[in-house]
Amino acid sequence: MNVGIIVYSKTGNTLSVAERLRESLEQEGCSVQVERFSAETEGPQSNKVVRLTANPDPSGYDLLIFGAPVQAFSLDPAMKLYLSGLAKQKQRPTLCFVTQHFPKPWMGGKQATRQMMQLLSDKGLTAKSLGVANWTSKQREALIATITETCRQAVALEQ
Ligand SMILES: Cc1cc2nc3c(=O)[nH]c(=O)nc-3n(C[C@H](O)[C@H](O)[C@H](O)COP(=O)(O)O)c2cc1C
Repeated sequence: MNVGIIVYSKTGNTLSVAERLRESLEQEGCSVQVERFSAETEGPQSNKVVRLTANPDPSGYDLLIFGAPVQAFSLDPAMKLYLSGLAKQKQRPTLCFVTQHFPKPWMGGKQATRQMMQLLSDKGLTAKSLGVANWTSKQREALIATITETCRQAVALEQ
């Protein structure tokens, strides 16, 4: 199975989870591509996204995974911009996850997940959430392990 993991990651946290998923799915025999995009902002002090540095094309993958950080209790605007600009997609198995600084998912992670699932649905992709990786939680490693195992099981069901 050809899996595409499409991530926006500013400081590397979301990317590191994506790499964990890649390693796990490769062990299951999947061919996995991690596609990361970055964003340009209005200036060095600004969080206002004006342009994406790449627009990964999801159309060639059998199964899609999207990952993004929380920004200001919402989905990061770079992922919002990317998903808003996507062409309508053929429905395929789709998974998503978010990372956030604060220790509890209600501190932005759940809201960002809902937003990402809605934007994916607008493009024809019904997504299942793998969970939230709370970076300052004492359970961080366990959370990432659960996301990875949930992903492995979801992909195994599609193989
Ligand atoms: C401008 C800004 C706003 C943020 N707002 C939140 C927030 O509301 N809640 C939260 O838990 N983390 C927040 N974060 C932290 C990021 O979500 C967190 O560090 C994430 O794991 C970063 O992922 P990345 O390393 O892949 O970019 C914010 C980070 C930035 C830069």
